[in-house]
Amino acid sequence: MEGLAAVILAAGKGTRMRSKIPKVLHPVAGRPMISYPIDLTRRLGAKPIVVVLGHGAEAVREHLSGDDIKVVLQEPQLGTGHATMVATRALDEYRGDLLILSGDMPLLELETIKGLVERHQSSKAALTVLVGKMDEPSGYGRIIRDASGRVIRIVEEKDASEAEKTIKEVNAGAYCVKIELLREALDSLRCENSQGEYYLTDIVEALSQMGVESYPAGSMEELVGVNDRVDLANVEGIIQGRIKSHWMRMGVTFLDPKSVFLDTDVVIGEDAFIGPNVRIQGKTIIGSGCKIGMGSYIRESVLEEGVEVLPYCVITQSKILSQAKVGPFAHLRPGTVVGEGAKVGNFVEMKNSTLGKRSKAPHLSYLGDAQIGEDVNIGAGTITCNYDGRQKHKTIVEDRVFVGSDTQLVAPVRVMEGAVIGAGSTITRDVPPGALAIARGKQVNLLGRAEKLLKRGS
Ligand code: UD1
Ligand code: CA
Repeated sequence: MEGLAAVILAAGKGTRMRSKIPKVLHPVAGRPMISYPIDLTRRLGAKPIVVVLGHGAEAVREHLSGDDIKVVLQEPQLGTGHATMVATRALDEYRGDLLILSGDMPLLELETIKGLVERHQSSKAALTVLVGKMDEPSGYGRIIRDASGRVIRIVEEKDASEAEKTIKEVNAGAYCVKIELLREALDSLRCENSQGEYYLTDIVEALSQMGVESYPAGSMEELVGVNDRVDLANVEGIIQGRIKSHWMRMGVTFLDPKSVFLDTDVVIGEDAFIGPNVRIQGKTIIGSGCKIGMGSYIRESVLEEGVEVLPYCVITQSKILSQAKVGPFAHLRPGTVVGEGAKVGNFVEMKNSTLGKRSKAPHLSYLGDAQIGEDVNIGAGTITCNYDGRQKHKTIVEDRVFVGSDTQLVAPVRVMEGAVIGAGSTITRDVPPGALAIARGKQVNLLGRAEKLLKRGS
């Protein structure tokens, strides 16, 4: 597509959200809403992409990056027409077609917007408006056509007559327009309407003599914009449906897709199986053949192929290598690496720690700031005492070590290759390779004393 620039309107207050956070930063499938139109215009090759900010501009700006983006400030915010005027001032040099989108419509599909631009370019219209038929059109601007069916005007709901309100064809709020003609049309805008704003929609009437085309959206869903939190929840539901359908078509099985939440940036391999009530967030990669058990929460992590996560695990910023098994009820905190074929069992918490190939920590452990080698067995109830109240210290457990149950490893400490630690030990000094370390009170057996003791108690 040649000669295309884009404007994204995102300066509005978003009053109906009743939020301290700017509307376009509210997340949809884990990404700020504004990233969706930006992505779309990028995929169409539009350049530059002018983003109009106002309300909460500083906060929004932090989420924008790329040299194709130009940020302009609209202050005060006098309506969508005024926002577009501000944007066109940043496009002084530009000649060609301009795509205008809103920051609050994350459901628009690439195919639809591509169709809009292509229709605009092939029809040589001055302006092409994305439209759709809504069963429940309230809140949207209505498309007014003349007897021959040509679009001649858009009327906002708040300015519409009773008759106009019955029109079901609405303005989606996406436009493609020749920029020279847009500039002239914007100059003619007035704010004599119920909201006292400069409406971008009034360019339709201004350009109607020059040729205004309409292009239909692919589905009604695409037109759902986010004005309040009810819309936000609707949009989230729709996008969740799309994401899961996509992965099902890519070969992923969901036992109960409705109960699963996936962020846009999640990637899942073929033959993965996702159980009910699973939530996967951020840039997470789930390898092929992985099984994710019921109720698990995984964020910004990488699971290689064939990993099995049993029910109710919480996994954050961790890496699980192929064929490893985790859970049920495991908590992997940031910086955890579970080695190939390793096993982390129930009620085990790991943080900033590596568990080597084929090593096992099957029950009730805390492993923090620990580097654990290959083929190690960590007995039930083993704890790394990594914090002395001021600083964190490291525990190193080398290959083929056997750590008996209920051991405390007081860091900094190193247990060298092939060593064995007797159950119930508190290890405060390094253990040499191949040594048996036992550090606990000696057992005393007092013969016959049990009976006496019990009698006294009765
Ligand atoms: C707008 C359209 C309406 C259409 C609907 C589709 C106008 C006047 N109306 O209404 O016909 O059916 O979208 O969703 O355009 N913005 C600014 N600066 C401002 C005001 C708004 O940048 O001064 C931005 C907002 O941040 C938002 C977008 O423009 O991203 C649309 O504004 P909004 O107030 O949501 O318009 P709607 O009432 O939805
Ligand atoms: Ca809107």
